[in-house]
Amino acid sequence: MGDRFTLSLRAYTWVAHAALATLVLIVLSGAGVRLTGSGLGCPSWPDCRGTFLPELSSHVWIEYGNRLFSSVVGIACITAGVLAFRVRPRRPDLVRPALVLAGGVVAQGLLGGLTVALDLSWPVVIAHYLLSMTLLLAAAILVWRVRGGVGRGGDRWVTLATRVLVIYGGLVIIAGTFATAAGPHAGGAGTGDVVQRLDAFGAGTLKTLIHLHGHMATAMGVAAVGLWAFARARGVRGTLMLMLTAVCLLIAAQGIVGLIQYHNALPAGLVWVHASLPAVLWVSLVWSWAAAGPVVATRPASDRAARSTRAPLPHRPAPDPPVHQRETAS
Ligand code: HEM
Repeated sequence: MGDRFTLSLRAYTWVAHAALATLVLIVLSGAGVRLTGSGLGCPSWPDCRGTFLPELSSHVWIEYGNRLFSSVVGIACITAGVLAFRVRPRRPDLVRPALVLAGGVVAQGLLGGLTVALDLSWPVVIAHYLLSMTLLLAAAILVWRVRGGVGRGGDRWVTLATRVLVIYGGLVIIAGTFATAAGPHAGGAGTGDVVQRLDAFGAGTLKTLIHLHGHMATAMGVAAVGLWAFARARGVRGTLMLMLTAVCLLIAAQGIVGLIQYHNALPAGLVWVHASLPAVLWVSLVWSWAAAGPVVATRPASDRAARSTRAPLPHRPAPDPPVHQRETAS
């Protein structure tokens, strides 16, 4: 290709946004497949019941529609991966997240096939969901960089606390996928398939895991509001405050939906919202990390610079040594 085909950063920005948008949407559509019980609507992969043009039936089309949409996601992510090398002026910082997108989406396609081949085995379903979150992480970083996002840093403790919240948020999401693995929405109900569930703690497994996940989520909500107030008190403004506000609101929405669904025997519609919202929450968390910037030394760099340029203190003569020293010195 040489240097014949190149791309401006502005044009590439569209590619990165397309990858991010399709990755959010596939979480919604994938959750839709599971919650309509259509996971085995197409029991073979990559074809559907021996053909690429399967007969119309709701579960077949929900599952097959999701597969067709995943091709769109694949094209968006692979295009982002390839074109990152063609951006001029060169942007090496875009290459790594873009390559994660391209490689990850191929792996995700194979994992999707494995999910069907292993009859919606819960460990594979968990891996499938978490790989989606990894792809969202890469896409969010890519979009942050193409938009010229700047992590201002400046406050060591706010930055560190933000990072802890993001990592903890990842754990809450992981705990949620285990609650789902024990839950009633395995994805095979619409086609009459019986899918094995996680039952490590016997009959009480679902309740135990929901309580664990729910308590972890509550702690996350408290921590997020605490961090928001702390950052404000420390004078943080701009993108980081915006992102932390979004995180607090999304956790509140997620928690409310989580509680309502729990007290109403997990209706599929609400569980769909609860399984989809983390895609947006996760992107907001990643952008919070990015906006918080690097961990700086205790005092902000600007402050230290200001100190070092201040006029030196006037020279004061050293005080006279104490009398006994004067005596020994002479
Ligand atoms: C920070 C807030 C929360 C986040 C980020 C979150 C995230 C998640 C995620 C990612 C899943 C798995 C989705 C899937 O595998 O498809 C999940 C499942 C679940 N969550 Fe939450 N959650 C939150 C709060 C809560 C709360 C407060 C409750 C209330 C007890 C709750 C109850 C549940 C239940 C019952 C499931 C399993 C639903 C099913 O059968 O699929 N969540 N959550």
